[in-house]
Formats: sequence, C-alpha cells, structure tokens
Amino acid sequence: MTTSAWERPWCASLDLARVGERVEVVGWVRRRRDLGGLVFVDLRDRSGLLQLVFEEAMVAEGERLSAEDVVRVSGTVRERAEGQANPKLASGAIEVKVEELNVLTAAETPPFVVEDRVNASEELRLTHRYLDLRRPEMTANLVLRHQVVAATRRYFDDMDFVEVETPILTRSTPEGARDFLVPSRIHKSSFYALPQSPQLFKQLLQVAGLGRYMQISRCFRDEDLRADRQPEFTQVDVEASFVTEEDIYTLVEGLFARIFPLVGIEPPATFPRLSYDEAMERFGSDRPDTRFGLELEELGPLCEGCGFRVLEEAAADGRVKGLVFPGGASLSRKQLDGLSEFVKPYGAAGVLWFKRIADGVASPAKKALGDDGVLRFLDAAGAEEGDVLLVVGGPESTVFAALGALRTHLAREHGLIPEDRHDFLWVTDFPLLEWDSGEERFHAMHHPFTAPTEDDTKLLESDPGAARARAYDVVMDGVELGGGSIRIHNPEVQRRMFAALGINKAEAEARFGFLLEAFRYGVPPHGGIALGLDRMLMLMAGRDSIRDVIAFPKTTSATCLMTRAPSEVDAHQMEELGLTTRS
Ligand code: AMO
Repeated sequence: MTTSAWERPWCASLDLARVGERVEVVGWVRRRRDLGGLVFVDLRDRSGLLQLVFEEAMVAEGERLSAEDVVRVSGTVRERAEGQANPKLASGAIEVKVEELNVLTAAETPPFVVEDRVNASEELRLTHRYLDLRRPEMTANLVLRHQVVAATRRYFDDMDFVEVETPILTRSTPEGARDFLVPSRIHKSSFYALPQSPQLFKQLLQVAGLGRYMQISRCFRDEDLRADRQPEFTQVDVEASFVTEEDIYTLVEGLFARIFPLVGIEPPATFPRLSYDEAMERFGSDRPDTRFGLELEELGPLCEGCGFRVLEEAAADGRVKGLVFPGGASLSRKQLDGLSEFVKPYGAAGVLWFKRIADGVASPAKKALGDDGVLRFLDAAGAEEGDVLLVVGGPESTVFAALGALRTHLAREHGLIPEDRHDFLWVTDFPLLEWDSGEERFHAMHHPFTAPTEDDTKLLESDPGAARARAYDVVMDGVELGGGSIRIHNPEVQRRMFAALGINKAEAEARFGFLLEAFRYGVPPHGGIALGLDRMLMLMAGRDSIRDVIAFPKTTSATCLMTRAPSEVDAHQMEELGLTTRS
C-alpha cells in the first residue's frame, strides 16, 4: 500500500477517531525501546510523534531500527493499552501496530541527540542546522514564522496593500549602517550595494501612485551583531500615501491584533505612547521595558553644593540620576562593586550607592554628605528601609545608557519581570538629528527623509539639534520591534534637511538624485514603518536570540558554520571581477 503523499496522515494527526484504520505513515525514528518480544518506536515528523509497535513476526524488523532512520510504515491504528496513554502527545491515546516496514534510508549516529532538551553547543547545532531544525521546538519556530508571514500578508491584503519586490542589487540606501557590496563584473571598479532597507524604493512606489505598499523584505547591514541583530534580516516593510502618524499607529495595532494571538498574546487595542524625552528620563532608553519599576529619579538639583565633589561636578557638567532597588540594602560590597563594573562599558565611572538600613544610612559618600545629606538623596528618590539607591553621574547620554542598562540587568538578575506580561508601546517625538561629536556633525536620527514636525521645521537652520521628527518606534518588552516616519515631500524642506546634515547639493544629487527628481513630478505626502520580523518572532516564541527563529542564521562573527560562508573565491573569479586582495 502506498498512499498519495497528500493524503498520508501526519504523525501527530492520528487519534482515537482513526482506531481500526489501516494507515501509512512516514518519518524519522526518534527512539527505539526493546521490551523483549515487543519493540516500541517513536516516529517523528514535522507535526510531532507517533508510537509504533512491532509485535510477533515484526519484532525482528523493529529491532534493526536506529535513531534518525527514515522509514515508511503501514499498520493499524489501535488504542493504547490501559494506563499507557500519554496525554502530553497529540497522538498519545493511540499507537500503530506495524504490519509493513520500509527503511527508506538508514542514518548514521548524529553528532547530537535530536531532542528538545539538547545539550549540544550552539556551534555544533549551527554546523548541523538541519538536525537542529529537526528538533520539535525549532520546527515549531519555523512553522510559527510561516503562520505569522501568512497572516501578515492576509492582513495587508485585506487593507488593500500591494506587495512589491524591490531590488537586492542596488545602490547604497540611507539607513546609516555599513553596506555589503557586490562587485560588478561588467562595470569594473563599480559595486552594487545590498539594500539596508527598501526605503527609497518604497517612497518611489508612492510617487508611482501605488498608494499602499508592503513587502516581506530581506535587508542587509554590515554592523556589529548581537542577540537581536543579524547581518541579513527580514522586515515587514510598509509605506502608504496620504497618511498621518495616527494612520500608521492603527495599521500596526491592527496587524498585531491579528498575529500576536497566534501565540496567545493579546495586545491592547491601542498602545500607550511615551515621548522620546519621557522614555529617556524615566527609563534611560528609547525602547523602555515598562513591565517593571526601577524608574530613574532626578537627583541633579540635590547635588549642587552638597559637599561631595564627585556629585557636584557631575551635576554641573552633566546629569545625576539614580534608581531605587527595593530590598537592595542587603547587597554586599562585592555585589555593589560588581554593579560599578557593569556600568563601566557604558562610559560611567561607577555606581555610587546609598543604603537606608534599620540603624541609619550607609554610603561611600556618607563622610562627605553626613547622615542628613545621604537621607536627602534617599528621600528624594523615595527609598525606604531596606532599599538601596544606585546613582550615576556624568554626561547625559552616559547616565541614560548606564542606568537604562543597569535597570534591565537588575530586573533580569532578580526576577522582577513578570513572566506572562507583555507591554506594547509607541515611542514618539524623536529628535530629528543627533550630534556626532567625533565627526562634529549631525546625523539623521532615523534617516534623511524623515520629516521634522511642522512647528520645528523653522529650527532646521537656527537650532537643528532641537528639532523634533515625525518619527515613531513600536516597542515590546524592551525590544524595538519597528520604526518609521512621515516623510519629507516638500523639495525645499528636503534641501534644508540635507543642509542641516552637511550634505551639499552635489552630494545629495549624487546619492539621491533619482529620488529628488522623482519628487518633482508629483509626490503625494507619505509615510510608513518597517517592523523587524525576526525580532517579533523571537518575542512570540519566547526566545532570547533571533537566531532561533531564522532557519539558517549567521554566528555573532557573521559566519555560516554550515556552509562556511564567507569563503575565499577562485583566482579566476577575482580576475573576472578585476579584484585583488591584500592579505
Ligand atoms: P530601522 O532601521 O529602524 O528602519 O529598521 C526597522 C526594524 O528592523 C529591525 N532591524 C533589525 N533586525 C535584525 N537585525 C538587524 N541588524 C536589524 N536592523 C534593524 C528592527 C527595526 O526596528 N527604512 C526604515 C523604516 C521606515 O522608515 O519605514 C528602517 O529600516 O526591528
């Protein structure tokens, strides 16, 4: 008996309703158990597990099987013996009594056991990614990815969006990361850049009159990698004409209402909003995790003339802020020193601590400030008995970065993040520009096509650093899921924006001339957003790294351990491209 592949049941689909039926199933041997005169085999396919039983004349055949052999089996579905049902498995009430076995391929012993609780290193798992993906939790992540992409496409289709593919071999795009370059064989010394995003094309599609564009688009950025950053990643990329910020907010909230319930997460109908300034002041981050407290307290005014020089100086030249860690008075000197070490990579000199304890206060600053002085800080921050106030002073960006990171570090270390709570929010009112003190010039905080707010357009010349942008980010549980903006559609404002960025006319023409020209022939007001698909899936699947939701990801050093990319190429290929390497 050979069933049509499309009619053959999945392993986990068989249940009591099929008892008595003769079925054909295929899959991988997950495990064999010999019970003397009886052999049990767990068969695995994408859907899950199915118990096979080899009895009587079939026992000898069953005994030959080993892990990861690929088999086709015919047999009869029967209810498991009393007390043998496994409620954890979809097919746990039944088993298949094998009548015919075909070993389609025998497998060698794999380099690690294909189980969910695998103790193989990530390196070994990535080298044999096809085995890693065979593990049920990894298979489930891929299936979820498919479901989310399918639901996303359906949603945008319902909203009258059109999916358009944009080029992969293109010119440098303006997202501000380093480009991946592809040498041209035909045009020696010329290079294509892989797109950091479809930004310019999606704007051009608005000039083309498409009105509502979306794309599940692959983007490439040569930047330092982290758990939530890959050199190639996927965006749900969106752009629409005649829209406001509010339209984008409702569009994304509607999408999330469709896709997050796939994993049992119900986002609120509308997401709370925080201005960039408020997010930084309260949480030290423009992607705040609002699921726990430990908010930043303002201490600057208390420092002036307080008697402790370190604080006085920090407040005079920058900012002094702190956070109260409830119950933290019990932290040892060593643990507190550890927190100082923790903030150093963010540029801070260390953490100054103030404890409120049963018999008074404790702090390295006590000698200079006196008990009253220490109490003033503790009171201002709202620290109660048993708490510790952790203080950082210095340049504003250092204080925010150090305390923002310390806040999430403490929450993670001490289990302060509620497990089944998820916070969605919009961060709005971003600055238009950020000052690069190294290069002594402004960069666009989002990208050079982001519109300033109407009120702040006048600041482009007089005080560009103070101008706000019509930009927004959507944040979930401290992760930036997406960002976008309403774009500049007025050529004069675009010219002034370029001027503020120190991009002269010739450079603007060379880099973005085609877009500027297109804008001369009737450009609708437009705006959009791009959502990081990998990051959304990471949170939906409850993982800590986007590598777990990408089929074939790169390591943190941007290599693929399985294919060993990047690799050297033939001398012949180099010659054809007109390239030589320097070693
Ligand atoms: P932005 O650069 O903010 O905006 O990117 C949008 C979202 O893409 C995700 N993302 C990444 N995910 C994984 N690895 C990376 N290296 C990586 N870089 C970014 C993040 C981020 O929020 N063109 C604009 C969007 C627009 O203005 O419409 C853009 O690309 O989740």
